[in-house]
Amino acid sequence: MYDSMRDVCIIGGSRYFGKRLMLRLRDAGVNVTVINRGSSPAPPGVTHLVADRDDEAALEAALGERHFDVVIDQVCYTPRQAAIAKRVFRGRTTRYVMTSTMEVYDPATFYDPATFDATAPAVSPLAAVAPAVVGRPVTEGTVDPGAWPVRLDLPWGEEQFRERIGDARYYAEGKRQAEAVFSQDPAFAYVSVRSAHVLGGGAEEFTGRLYHYVDRVGTGRPVVVHREDHPSTFINDREIAEFLFWAAGADFTGPVNANSHGELSATELCALVAAQVGAERPTYAYAGGAGDEVSPFSFDRYYAMDNSRATGLGFTFSKTADWLPGAIAETAAAITTAKGL
Ligand SMILES: NC(=O)c1ccc[n+]([C@@H]2O[C@H](COP(=O)([O-])OP(=O)(O)OC[C@H]3O[C@@H](n4cnc5c(N)ncnc54)[C@H](OP(=O)(O)O)[C@@H]3O)[C@@H](O)[C@H]2O)c1
Repeated sequence: MYDSMRDVCIIGGSRYFGKRLMLRLRDAGVNVTVINRGSSPAPPGVTHLVADRDDEAALEAALGERHFDVVIDQVCYTPRQAAIAKRVFRGRTTRYVMTSTMEVYDPATFYDPATFDATAPAVSPLAAVAPAVVGRPVTEGTVDPGAWPVRLDLPWGEEQFRERIGDARYYAEGKRQAEAVFSQDPAFAYVSVRSAHVLGGGAEEFTGRLYHYVDRVGTGRPVVVHREDHPSTFINDREIAEFLFWAAGADFTGPVNANSHGELSATELCALVAAQVGAERPTYAYAGGAGDEVSPFSFDRYYAMDNSRATGLGFTFSKTADWLPGAIAETAAAITTAKGL
């Protein structure tokens, strides 16, 4: 398996778990090439190619005659980007791993394929997509990229289109259709890693979502949640980097869910934060009232993934409860530094 992984290309690889993945591969003795737009230099021992992946000619030119055993695509968000990558890497790689997301299962982001009307109620273009059932985590077959309709005619990449359909729908549908482009009439062996919400890494965790909880609970401010908040699934930043490393060196194909064992709701997360930082019991405000937006991990429906495909293929997941206290502590330390306390 890993023996055949000598040359790996990462598209992205300059922040958060992409950076961890790059170093993990390099330190395992793999020849690593990263492609990004050059906002930060690559570390020693890593080949750096500078190109915008949206610019097909520039990507071709930067790659030249290079070939890889595996490409890991960390920043594919639209079917247009997938179509460019599929053309450019056909014949240049034997395996392609795209970092996708559990948001592909978010039923609120499905759409009417006839109109793509953001104001229409969410409907699935595939009759096979079942609504989330409490206590039954979603499996990969719920969204089949082999059958998902692709709409390359839509203005993907245009800000106005994103605004029209909304960030959440743009992100989820862009990922679903990107997976579909790679899966249908494949140019190489293809895997989409559907990552759970990633937590950990302190200041490296640029999304600010765990920061939001640690800061609010730590300073005694209310956290805005749904009146009935449902659990979801998570993964640590180190674990998702390890998972991608494993998926790159394996030989299975198709979508695979990546989440640590154990589910967690926003209010359970608040209680853990309070215990970890020694704060008072958390207080809550409820979504729907005036004031703040609902907090990022509060869900009004059961929203958990089933990781048994990856487990069956040989990956050993940790338990969320084992790493979460450390992730909270890292975030609390980052807040202390940021506030100069
Ligand atoms: N954080 C989460 O909770 C979560 C959960 C599920 C899935 N994900 C997925 O994780 C992935 C991101 O991982 P990461 O944050 O660790 O990222 P990463 O691998 O470091 O990639 C981000 C880097 O990609 C480069 N990039 C962006 N657009 C580019 C373009 N058009 N052409 C070339 N390079 C480009 C940027 O560097 P330059 O500015 O130098 O180009 C950027 O810093 C995404 O696919 C996201 O959907 C994240």
